[in-house]
Amino acid sequence: MDHLTIHFPVGRSRLLGRQQQVVHAVEDVSFSINRGETLGLAGESGSGKTTTGRAILRRIDPKRGTIRFRGRDITQSSGQALRHLRRHMQLVFQDPYASLNPRMNVLDLVAEPLIVHGIYNSTDDAREYVLELLEQCGLSADTADRFPHAFSGGQRQRIGIARAIGLRPEFIVADEPVSALDVSIRAQVVNLLQDLQDELGITYLFIAHDLSVVRHISNRVAIMYAGQIVEIADRDTIYERPLHPYTEALLSSIPVPNPQLQRDRRRIVLSGEIPDTLEPPSGCRFASRCPLVEERCHVEMPSLSPRSETHDAACWVR
Ligand SMILES: Nc1ncnc2c1ncn2[C@@H]1O[C@H](COP(=O)(O)OP(=O)(O)OP(=O)(O)O)[C@@H](O)[C@H]1O
Ligand code: SF4
Ligand SMILES: [Mg+2]
Repeated sequence: MDHLTIHFPVGRSRLLGRQQQVVHAVEDVSFSINRGETLGLAGESGSGKTTTGRAILRRIDPKRGTIRFRGRDITQSSGQALRHLRRHMQLVFQDPYASLNPRMNVLDLVAEPLIVHGIYNSTDDAREYVLELLEQCGLSADTADRFPHAFSGGQRQRIGIARAIGLRPEFIVADEPVSALDVSIRAQVVNLLQDLQDELGITYLFIAHDLSVVRHISNRVAIMYAGQIVEIADRDTIYERPLHPYTEALLSSIPVPNPQLQRDRRRIVLSGEIPDTLEPPSGCRFASRCPLVEERCHVEMPSLSPRSETHDAACWVR
């Protein structure tokens, strides 16, 4: 994905004579995900993670930029070609309850995409394969005839995952797949996603707030702030040798299990305003909250530049 820029028009009112305003949700974002790996995407609420994920899946049209899948430019794909792509690129949602039709039983829910894509003609035809998928996702066969409301959050997320993997996608955007779940069952669902990756060779973009979950599952991690990637590196580098002051601040807020370490650690509390997405500053977008800010930061925007073979950061000072 290169130079992806996504703007949302908002708030036009001819009656009030107001100008069309634009939310600068994603600005000039470039990154790639290698086949079979998990790229974690983390950052505060509103930083543009979901918008980026949806654009890669071609559910939002970018204003500028190129999206490539298996090396092919898919930015303009439409019609039959887009339908074909959708089969290979799936989305797992944060809230499996909202994304599962409450009037369909599990069999219908998991069979639906298979029928839409012409793999099976009817739910009955698909039944055996659906039972296999349910088992693969840790659900027993007797779940097939029940409805979403009968399940816990973790089980519902397993149903959502079974629905996503039925078409054997190569790539899945998992958008906060465990954020709505109890802490005690998050690890189980993350482990399921990892097992499926091992079995089926799926590539993930794993979006999450929780940096400890991201650390567990990702091979590489990208940090997003106010619509831009500010740092991207292999997992251990991000967690052990972060460069960007925003990454440092995010990491400093993860609780450490050892109380002695927790006491000794310096927690960076960010103050200052998050930039206005309607009128983002022309310099570094983190300048209003950055403890290291300098004159230059307000004037010129730092671009993501390589610091080692596997590490890019966007900062004038670091
Ligand atoms: N359809 C839309 N219309 C207008 N603005 C939007 C729309 N979708 C997203 N935005 C705005 O774009 C920005 C990025 O939103 P996005 O949902 O991608 O953030 P996020 O990082 O996924 O946040 P969260 O962690 O809360 O899910 C936000 O300012 C949001 O308000
Ligand atoms: S460019 Fe300046 S304001 Fe931006 S993160 Fe670096 S030091 Fe902070
Ligand atoms: Mg989101």
